[in-house]
Amino acid sequence: MISIVEPKVEKQSRSDEARFIDPYGRKISYLRVSVTDRCNLRCFYCRPHGVFEALPHKDILTYEEMYRLIKVGADLGIKKIRITGGEPLVRRGVVEFITELTKIKGLEDISLTTNGIYLSQHLEKLYSGGIKRINISMDTLKKDRFRKITGADRFKEVWESIQLAEKINFQPIKINMVVIKGINDDEVKAMALLTRSHPYHIRFIEYMPVGIQKQKPGDYFISSLEIQQQIEQIGRLIPISSNTFDGPAKMYQFENAPGRVGFISAMSNHFCGTCNRLRLTAGGYLKPCLLSNIKQDIKGPLRSGFSDNELADLFIKAINSKPMEHQLDSTAKSFISDQMSNIGG
Ligand code: GTP
Ligand code: 5AD
Ligand code: SF4
Repeated sequence: MISIVEPKVEKQSRSDEARFIDPYGRKISYLRVSVTDRCNLRCFYCRPHGVFEALPHKDILTYEEMYRLIKVGADLGIKKIRITGGEPLVRRGVVEFITELTKIKGLEDISLTTNGIYLSQHLEKLYSGGIKRINISMDTLKKDRFRKITGADRFKEVWESIQLAEKINFQPIKINMVVIKGINDDEVKAMALLTRSHPYHIRFIEYMPVGIQKQKPGDYFISSLEIQQQIEQIGRLIPISSNTFDGPAKMYQFENAPGRVGFISAMSNHFCGTCNRLRLTAGGYLKPCLLSNIKQDIKGPLRSGFSDNELADLFIKAINSKPMEHQLDSTAKSFISDQMSNIGG
């Protein structure tokens, strides 16, 4: 059990919310918090074997530090928190931490993105603690292929956690499939078909070349358009107008299907123009954009005794450095220095 000491919060002025708009007029209301850079998988596109050194524990933000920063963010207008990793559920106490966040005034939506391996044992507690929706990464329905992609024979645990989440009534249950040419693109129809029998939101994500990659640039990229064309061979996809929970995905539905199909076209048709996100890394940096190397240290100032108002100024500085859009090319060598698993997607 973690104990979170309520920080003394100096009252922020209401004008702070107005200041939480970036230079391109985008209101920042969504903070993605990576609670650990560690992961129990080695998905080759995210955290490949041998290119990654985990941060020493002393360099990882404590829960108390994260809680304080999230509170500062909430006072500035953050309404939505997504807990990410690495794999968030490998960090001890994370479920208590997440449910503790539901007490922060101003936060309207708290959820997590997980690989699902340790999820089953935590689902009841998450649900009763106020977490009603969840995103789970699953790139294949084939056990052997799962092992090849992730380095671990854990498909069964992930699939069971998804089914249990459905039973407990998490809504929506979003399933993330990074579609990788020549690796799992022959499964997009089978994945999409799941939405005819289950209420899942299956999201097909374009591969983003981030961090050190072992393959030639562009080799694995397949566009959302190509994926959608494949899926439409099995049925017409009806567009759905997006709601606040849809994030960057364009959503569709087969006629009368309980589930939904979504496309996250981060490369071919990016959504930077409406980006409302900021990221806090496990190592204590604010990152204004996933696909840029810009970052703002906040752990150093926090540990050296900055007040909440001074920390709020660092948040504002970070969003003022938010680029208009990313410059990553699906066919070029990545210039993003961090691995995806360090940033939390
Ligand atoms: P919700 O909208 O809260 O459900 O979350 P989400 O779909 O944004 O989060 P999730 O962690 O499930 O991420 C799904 C995919 O979107 C992953 O591949 C992320 O890397 C990608 N993604 C999330 N945010 C951004 C972003 O700001 N920019 C880009 N380019 N990709 C993002
Ligand atoms: N490209 C696209 N999505 C990625 N993810 C991890 N690495 C990549 C990548 N290179 C996804 C994971 C997870 C989410 C947080 O980010 O599959 O669902
Ligand atoms: Fe781990 Fe998620 Fe990255 Fe896979 S995608 S290596 S599960 S952090």
